[in-house]
Amino acid sequence: MKLDLSNALLNSELKEYQDKVNAIHQSLLDKSCLGNDFIGWLDWPLDYDKEEFDRIKSVAEEIRNDGDVLLVCGIGGSYLGARSAIEMLNGLYPDDKLEIIYTGNGLSATYLQQVLNHIEGKSVYLNVISKSGTTTETAVAFRIFEKYMYAHYDKEEAQRRIIATTDKARGTLKALADAKNYRTFVIPDDIGGRFSVFTAVGLLPIAASGVDISEIMKGCQKAHKDFQDSSLESNIAYQYAVARRILEQQGKCNELFVTYEPSMTMVAEWWKQLFGESEGKDGKGIFPGSVTFTTDLHSMGQFIQEGTKNLFETLLLVENPTYDIKFPSDSDNLDNMNYLADKSVNWINKMACLGTIDAHVNTGKVPNIILTLDDTSAFSYGYMIYFFFRACAMSVLLLDVNPFNQPGVEVYKKNMFNLLGKPE
Ligand code: PA5
Repeated sequence: MKLDLSNALLNSELKEYQDKVNAIHQSLLDKSCLGNDFIGWLDWPLDYDKEEFDRIKSVAEEIRNDGDVLLVCGIGGSYLGARSAIEMLNGLYPDDKLEIIYTGNGLSATYLQQVLNHIEGKSVYLNVISKSGTTTETAVAFRIFEKYMYAHYDKEEAQRRIIATTDKARGTLKALADAKNYRTFVIPDDIGGRFSVFTAVGLLPIAASGVDISEIMKGCQKAHKDFQDSSLESNIAYQYAVARRILEQQGKCNELFVTYEPSMTMVAEWWKQLFGESEGKDGKGIFPGSVTFTTDLHSMGQFIQEGTKNLFETLLLVENPTYDIKFPSDSDNLDNMNYLADKSVNWINKMACLGTIDAHVNTGKVPNIILTLDDTSAFSYGYMIYFFFRACAMSVLLLDVNPFNQPGVEVYKKNMFNLLGKPE
């Protein structure tokens, strides 16, 4: 992974932050930082439970062999990571026998009914994922699909096909899973939802989709090693963390995450949760948004180019995309497109990207931070998520905000529970 700040239009030097970065880095290592109960993710690439990891692989294999559909039932940090990996690594239309369907991430009856219609007659597995075990969206969908399972399989078979990923000892879902003899996987106490994709939360669905999850862990391990040193000369996660803070000081309070691959749109959704939920507190923070180019150049491009000058872009590019296509020549050339004949479509996409960077940075004066992944492999995915974890923790701690809680999320829940008449 590479970071290029040459188009970031920074008016201060990263090195001015070195002392602060060193202190925060140390407070992460000695676990004295804000929110220190939730930094289990920091050494997880080395400390992860190897026995559980093997069990994840073998249950995933069983799902792949016996299932047509895996229903992944979860929301927020218990959903976005798995989907971001599965779409980035397998593409949007994978040629795989097992279909992954996401549910429990909203309350639309239409969506739920359409999923119920769609899975009829298929061999279904259900993985419910909830750390608290009480999340309304997940619990509503889970009860509906659990009933479906008991209506379509005998008791023992339904029990075999329902798998719960939740707290190791506490919570409603853990108690329910134990009472009904469902297999369970653990969400570690000290890892919050948005930092949990490389635990069973993400790894079971990702492995079931056919991805080699050992490669993801290898990518995380490499990033863990690369980001041990807090020097802003070499640590690109901390360079990104500091660059965001400098841009915020320059009045850039909106960050647009830009990808040029539609299969990475869910990576952007995952990134938005990571930074939005970690940073948006105490009246502070950069608002995280996202666009997929070149699609959104035809909808949001005008605003980025000439609208309010309060945003910057963070591009996540891929050096070697999964496929390429040669643009065909046509003897009639009625569409006047022969000037691109025999060119690679990836090259065309790259020229669009370079033209856009030039337009946004040099004409529009919109700062661009440019991240480049080597490819869309499982290793690169693992490296990338750990890069963003380290960058997010550093960037938010530089604001003197606890990156690992989300107190504001409770406000809507309280109102909703009152309206729904939930007993105390
Ligand atoms: O990052 C978070 O903590 C949240 O997005 C949670 O993951 C989300 O609310 C789901 O919570 P739970 O796993 O308890 O159902």
